[in-house]
Amino acid sequence: LGSIASRRSARVSTPSPITAGPQIAACGSFPAEPLPLESIRLQLRTWPEVESYLERCKGVIVPLGSTEQHGPTGAIGTDALTAEAVALELGRRSGVLVTPAQAFGMAEHHLGFPGTVSLQPATLLAVLHDVVLSLARHGFERIYVVNGHGGNIATTRAAFAQAYGTAAARGLPVAGELRCRLANWFTAAPVMRLARELYGDREGHHATPSEIALTLHLEPSLVAAQRPLPEAAPAGPIHGPEDFRRRHPDGRMGSDPYLAQADHGARFLDCAATALVDDLRDFLAESPAA
Ligand code: NI
Repeated sequence: LGSIASRRSARVSTPSPITAGPQIAACGSFPAEPLPLESIRLQLRTWPEVESYLERCKGVIVPLGSTEQHGPTGAIGTDALTAEAVALELGRRSGVLVTPAQAFGMAEHHLGFPGTVSLQPATLLAVLHDVVLSLARHGFERIYVVNGHGGNIATTRAAFAQAYGTAAARGLPVAGELRCRLANWFTAAPVMRLARELYGDREGHHATPSEIALTLHLEPSLVAAQRPLPEAAPAGPIHGPEDFRRRHPDGRMGSDPYLAQADHGARFLDCAATALVDDLRDFLAESPAA
């Protein structure tokens, strides 16, 4: 790897906004002040900048959401908006690049509600597998997926397993170093503590006030949709879309999103980013033997 790296530095000599500046000289240097958003968005970088970044940092953050109903007052994009916001805040605090959000997730059980767009598990598995393999091919060794939707968890883990196998089978140079981690922002311990403190049992399990609060913080226009709702059906088993709608007629599972406030959302964003930044730091530092 050393010889490849030195060939790269000989070829790429122009400092880039990502790599210039002492505060982000090394991956995981975690600047004292959050970086400007544009510096950590992969979409706004050029390929030479990414090549140069890879000489210093092998980490990348991938936001993963879902496009699905969130009760009668919550935005369809809740899980994608929240995952992307947390991922970008994490990128600003760590200096680690953030890919575009994968906004479609596994939401088959929400298909009884208009506006929901779902990838079947096998499709999502293939998408995530290809995302990981694309990044690994270029030398990314630590893929950190910030997820906003519980329904994605099983499939994401399966995609990681498949990606490890493919990386080895293709003989990718990074195969032995490749690590993928799934970080569900909404189950980070400090986030769950804050949700419990603010909402108690009314946090529920879907269209929760914590995630809705974060969307109100991100998109003030959504506050206008907030209104009191009747008691939601409690969480129960999840089968197909028709069964889900029969059990949960308005889409919520045990939650009271009317409790959500934009200022709570700002706290959830800070709380999630703080929790995940420590996890990301450990992940980047992890030796392949660990
Ligand atoms: Ni959600």
